[in-house]
Amino acid sequence: MWYNRLGFKLILFVGAILVIALGVFAYVSINSQKSQLIAEVLRGANRISETIKRSTRYDMLKYETEDVHKIIETIGEQEGIEKIRVFNKEGTIMYSSDGKEIGSMVDKKAEACYTCHAAEKPLEKLPIPERNRIYKTKEGHRVLGVIDPIYNEEDCYTAECHIHPPTQKVLGVLDIGMSLTDVDKKIEGNQNKMLAFAVLVFLVISGAIGIFVQRSVSRPVRALVNGTNKIAAGELDYTLKVDSRDEIGELANSFNRMTRDLEEAQKELKEWSKVLEKRVEERSQELKKTQEQLIQSEKLASLGKLAAGVAHEINNPLTGILTYGSLLLKEHNDNLQIKEDLEVIVNETTRCRKIVKGLLEFARQTEPSKSPAIINMVVEETLSLLENQAIFHNIKVVKKLKEDLPTAMVDVDQIKQVFVNIILNAAESMSQGGTLTIESDLDSHKKFVQISFSDTGCGISEENFSKIFDPFFTTKRSGKGTGLGLSVSYGIIQRHKGFLEVKSKLGEGSTFIIKLPLE
Ligand SMILES: Nc1ncnc2c1ncn2[C@@H]1O[C@H](COP(=O)(O)OP(=O)(O)O)[C@@H](O)[C@H]1O
Ligand SMILES: [Mg+2]
Repeated sequence: MWYNRLGFKLILFVGAILVIALGVFAYVSINSQKSQLIAEVLRGANRISETIKRSTRYDMLKYETEDVHKIIETIGEQEGIEKIRVFNKEGTIMYSSDGKEIGSMVDKKAEACYTCHAAEKPLEKLPIPERNRIYKTKEGHRVLGVIDPIYNEEDCYTAECHIHPPTQKVLGVLDIGMSLTDVDKKIEGNQNKMLAFAVLVFLVISGAIGIFVQRSVSRPVRALVNGTNKIAAGELDYTLKVDSRDEIGELANSFNRMTRDLEEAQKELKEWSKVLEKRVEERSQELKKTQEQLIQSEKLASLGKLAAGVAHEINNPLTGILTYGSLLLKEHNDNLQIKEDLEVIVNETTRCRKIVKGLLEFARQTEPSKSPAIINMVVEETLSLLENQAIFHNIKVVKKLKEDLPTAMVDVDQIKQVFVNIILNAAESMSQGGTLTIESDLDSHKKFVQISFSDTGCGISEENFSKIFDPFFTTKRSGKGTGLGLSVSYGIIQRHKGFLEVKSKLGEGSTFIIKLPLE
């Protein structure tokens, strides 16, 4: 609201002080003017009174009343004189500039008489200031009345007329009324001038304060308020323009400093939250991986027990079948028909034994007997075992082995078995030929040695991706795959406290990554 504005309050406050100060000043100066003007009128009245006394003295002594009348009338006509009259001790008007009054009585208790006649015995001497009074005429203007007692002097009571006895102290009173119309007009004029002056001063000072407040307080404060609103709305790069060096300028400066700090703090906060988000993401990824591994190992463990039992039971009868099959084959070497059938029996039984052997291997889950090993050497040895096999004929092998890698604590035989499984899988996925890239390096945290096998083979479909580590899961036609290679490998790597990870895209290829802890 406008009445809550600083400018308005300041104007109100300063205005009130101004009005009081100007009022007091006007009151004092008009009063002193008033008393000066009235003193002047009074001096004039006294002079006139003296003149009348002197100029009528001779005629009074001679008792030339007509001449006294004339003199009083003439003087009474002068401008500024309201009335001149002389009354005797009893209050009868003896002479007056207003002829009609002569002979009438004045009420002693009224007007001028009262100052002396208040008490039963009238005063004979009256102090000068008490001789004046101001009253209003019937027409409404003010009149200054001055009374001048006429004392009985020696030549009065020795004069020929013998009108007054010598015992009488006061003969009568000369009463002069001076019109205050002019004085009042002047005072009124001055009052008006004073009022106009006060209003003008008030307006000028209020205007000046208004402009000053507007320029050096309201406008910058409004800019400040505006800025605060913008900051509150999140516009943190907003800066106030500062062009004054007063407290408001200082305020704007610290405001700018505050917004800068705020902005920085917010930036930091944002960065932090980003870092935090990333960490959370990483952690949840890790958690997910661990959970998956847990599920996998759980699955493997229960299946392992089952497989071990079954394999053990099947192994003995199989040995029997195979032994007797082989014997029969030797005996019937010449009968072609029987020989062919027996060969099928022996081959299929051999395949069964292979599966059972794999099962037992998978189920055995022997703890690795670890020793420090140079992983690159293990890779090379595995490759030399496989390279000459027919399946590798149209496959190019690229080795990117990092030199001088620290040794890892592994069971070399078990790790070799893992490598064989993975390399054979890769070769099998590239039946039409392709490239197998084998890389070794430290992992990003330098806590593991990492070996990756990338092929350009058929890749793994999304559907199969979650199943490839399951025992007996295979996509290869019957007789070709057992579906045990990866599950066995997984178990081995797990017992080495390492990781086995896969990335694959259907139709483009797969990458198997093995991480083994450093010594
Ligand atoms: N490098 C690879 N490229 C594509 N598929 C693969 C690869 N390695 C494994 N697989 C898939 O995983 C399945 C399981 O593999 P594995 O456990 O070694 O059993 P098997 O090789 O006897 O099928 C394979 O049948 C195949 O579908
Ligand atoms: Mg395999």
